[in-house]
Amino acid sequence: MAEKKRELVLSGVQPSAAQVHLGNYLGAMKRFVTLSQQYDTIVCIVDLHALTTVWDAQALRENTVSLAAAYLAIGMEPSRAIIFRQSDVAEVCELTWYLACQFPLGLLERATSLKDAKAKAKVVNSGLMYYPVLMAADILLYRSTKVPVGADQKQHLEMTREVAQKFNNAYGDVFPLPEPLIEEDTGVIVGLDGRKMSKSYDNYIGLFEDSKKVRKKVMKIVTDSKSVEDEKDPDTCNVFTLYKFFASQQEQAALAEKYRAGGMGYGEAKQALFESIEREISPMRDKYNDLMSRPDDLRDVLADGARRAREIAGVTMASVREAVGVGSIL
Ligand code: ADP
Ligand code: TRP
Repeated sequence: MAEKKRELVLSGVQPSAAQVHLGNYLGAMKRFVTLSQQYDTIVCIVDLHALTTVWDAQALRENTVSLAAAYLAIGMEPSRAIIFRQSDVAEVCELTWYLACQFPLGLLERATSLKDAKAKAKVVNSGLMYYPVLMAADILLYRSTKVPVGADQKQHLEMTREVAQKFNNAYGDVFPLPEPLIEEDTGVIVGLDGRKMSKSYDNYIGLFEDSKKVRKKVMKIVTDSKSVEDEKDPDTCNVFTLYKFFASQQEQAALAEKYRAGGMGYGEAKQALFESIEREISPMRDKYNDLMSRPDDLRDVLADGARRAREIAGVTMASVREAVGVGSIL
């Protein structure tokens, strides 16, 4: 229990889509549940970050509620973790400003996320440039010490540490320096076409899609054109790559053996994959659908999360305001 007190794990997820997919679940969300069993954990639904790309107010609200339901459905418990909406604690914007005043401009201009955004769009809003500052504010406002993120977020974490250090150098020891927790093992989850599973490629399996749709999509996963009799290689097969995330070691060994022996068509491997996904996801799907039919309860969870987050933020901001010289005059 002592350990639970020492570390604070925080991660942020953008409510930028109507539904999460298996890539999000396996690559990020599932791990938060495990971490929340070991550490004090905060899951922040970062709607202010999502505003850099989502400009439909109703969609943003709906995505937020759906993401909250998704976290609860996969096993995150409000008694073990604070689940809240970023915009409910407005101090994060105030802290963003104090940090911006310590954030070297060159650092923001070098962010790969900004470069990616510039490559994708003709006009890049300045929210995208401030994105890493707002993220640093999320992390530092709650004095988080461990931040689980995908490898793509590594640079943002380095920036957070750098700005925290600069702030501490200028004003004294205000912030702990957060450590990234980067899962190298999971890697990138492949989609139906073998590329990274992503909502922007439309190659995903929605985490809570109904089972008929899941089956249809699994049957569409791209494989090579070997015939039933041919020996096959599980290690280069998109179906098997996904199967590994849902099947036990024994099941994996048994299916790999069938691949190598020949005499098994890809249809059979796909059916095994579908069944393994269903086994894990279907209880979560039922829970998700139940939660989504009770939006008031979801709002209560977020309101309670916001109240608890605000308490932590209030303590941090009192020392931050004092440190920078705003707040009380005398
Ligand atoms: P998308 O690529 O569908 O837009 P996001 O960028 O919103 O997904 O990702 C949200 C979270 O899910 C991030 O932490 C990201 O690292 C993780 N994630 C998304 N897609 C994958 C994937 N294919 N494999 C592993 N992790 C993923
Ligand atoms: N930038 C993160 C992403 O796109 C989301 C995020 C915002 C975040 N604030 C955070 C992640 C704080 C970890 C901690 O995935």
